[in-house]
Amino acid sequence: MNAGEKPRVIAIDGPAASGKSTVALSLSRRLGFRLMDSGSMYRAVALLAVEKEVQLDDENTLFELARSVRADFRLELPPGASPRVFLGDRDVTEAIRSPGVGEAVSPVSVVGGVRKEMVSLQRESVSEDGVVAEGRDIGTVVFSDAPLKVYLDAALEERIDRRYKELTDKGMNITRSSVEKETEMRDTIDSSREHSPLSIAPDAVLIDTTDMSVVEVVEEISKIWNSRQRDR
Ligand code: CDP
Repeated sequence: MNAGEKPRVIAIDGPAASGKSTVALSLSRRLGFRLMDSGSMYRAVALLAVEKEVQLDDENTLFELARSVRADFRLELPPGASPRVFLGDRDVTEAIRSPGVGEAVSPVSVVGGVRKEMVSLQRESVSEDGVVAEGRDIGTVVFSDAPLKVYLDAALEERIDRRYKELTDKGMNITRSSVEKETEMRDTIDSSREHSPLSIAPDAVLIDTTDMSVVEVVEEISKIWNSRQRDR
């Protein structure tokens, strides 16, 4: 990339279960871009914290865990299959989606030192091939110069239904009310924290996905990306 050139990044932010992961994966495949899933990075830190029984206000130890995740994190994209997340040789794809990690991840993500390490790791994903990057602070902080920023949202009830279906389809034994509690708790912490709270970048395109299919959302974002490329 030449100096002064904008990175080929599509930044997708939004609250829990707004469809970011599914849309980002499908969009990255369609455009031939890399995928950067920042949520899995924070979830990996939370997984280590839960396993090592670290107190969620022990900022120094959480920072150390974030450093180790920064060194060991790897996202693999097997063709035609879902992404897999590794810490070193260990496949943590399922473990980072467990309810215990879901409860710990937002408290862990408020820690400034944790965010600093994760943002460095996220910025390493920039590639000339292009990157679809998703999370909470991608358009506002991590890639604030992204040429396309999208904020995905959906009605709370719809987001809870989607996450409940996703987890029960995977065979997890959970109740809808526990999903509701976790979604609301994460939305509240993520939007009110001091460092990089979830917010809509002023230059983001806002898409309400409540009544849209994944295909429709991907189609809309691709159209905007392609028209901006033509207008450059
Ligand atoms: O899939 P879902 O939207 O529910 O969550 P995720 O993308 O896996 O992110 C899990 C949690 O990580 C969020 O609730 C945030 O607390 C944190 N996170 C963050 O703070 N900053 C990001 N860029 C991405 C995730």
